Amino acid sequence: ALVSTGKLVAEAAAAGTGVAAFNVITLEHAEAITAGAAAAGRPVILQISENAVKFHGGQLGPITAAARAVAELASVDVALHLDHVESAALLHQAPEHGFSSVMFDASTLPYAENVAATRAAARFCHEHGLWLESELGTVGGKDGAPPLGAHAPGARTDPAEAAAYVAETGVDALAVAVGSSHAMTSRDAALDHDLIAALRTAVPVPLVLHGSSGVGDAELRRAVTGGLVKINIGTALNIAATGAVRDVLSGDAKLVDPRKYLRPARDAMAATVRHFLTLL
Ligand code: G3H
Ligand code: ZN
Repeated sequence: ALVSTGKLVAEAAAAGTGVAAFNVITLEHAEAITAGAAAAGRPVILQISENAVKFHGGQLGPITAAARAVAELASVDVALHLDHVESAALLHQAPEHGFSSVMFDASTLPYAENVAATRAAARFCHEHGLWLESELGTVGGKDGAPPLGAHAPGARTDPAEAAAYVAETGVDALAVAVGSSHAMTSRDAALDHDLIAALRTAVPVPLVLHGSSGVGDAELRRAVTGGLVKINIGTALNIAATGAVRDVLSGDAKLVDPRKYLRPARDAMAATVRHFLTLL
């Protein structure tokens, strides 16, 4: 059933568990994610990024309608989230497409500009009943270097600044930089657990981990125990899907029916989803 992201995050935070948000690029991703969630008996968040929207010709409607239809048919609770939105025009389309939440990403803007843009996004979201996540990475260095997003390698979020940022912007959740980075294909990121504890104490809203594909099982469990609530996972599904497709195609040069490789790809993604959900 389709539920709100705010509900799933609040339930996970209250239970001291994590809720996973998986990136949807194709219909098969949405089907695999809900199948994996049903197999694990756990709720899940389907998230569609601005980059995925660009892949679908800049149109939010078709992939969102597919994901929403899959969510509505699911036997477990499923929420729809719009991920890594930089375009205000795209943000403004979120309510009419059935999203319950948005991640607005101004993390590579200087601090004051990040606050101003995110505060405006928060006003819009709260007027339209949307739960808002945003991101704070590093502050621009003394050398005038631009800030790093929260999931850039080496970025770290400062707890005092994060507390001020949440108070100034009014966001409902905060993505923080604690050692993970986007699009890792090996699961060996070392998280800064002391920083996670400091952020948990300083920040009054749920914390979000991006780039979780690069975080190993034990590290991920420890991060959730330490207070990370929303766990974003994208690349791990693409590793599983592409590996399955490569296996099938490399064994049969005459194969042309896409179902022959999309089914194994979908099954591999569902197994990956199930694994992550069992972990959290
Ligand atoms: O917002 C999406 C996540 O941060 C996904 O990151 O592809 O590295 O798992 P990942
Ligand atoms: Zn991310």
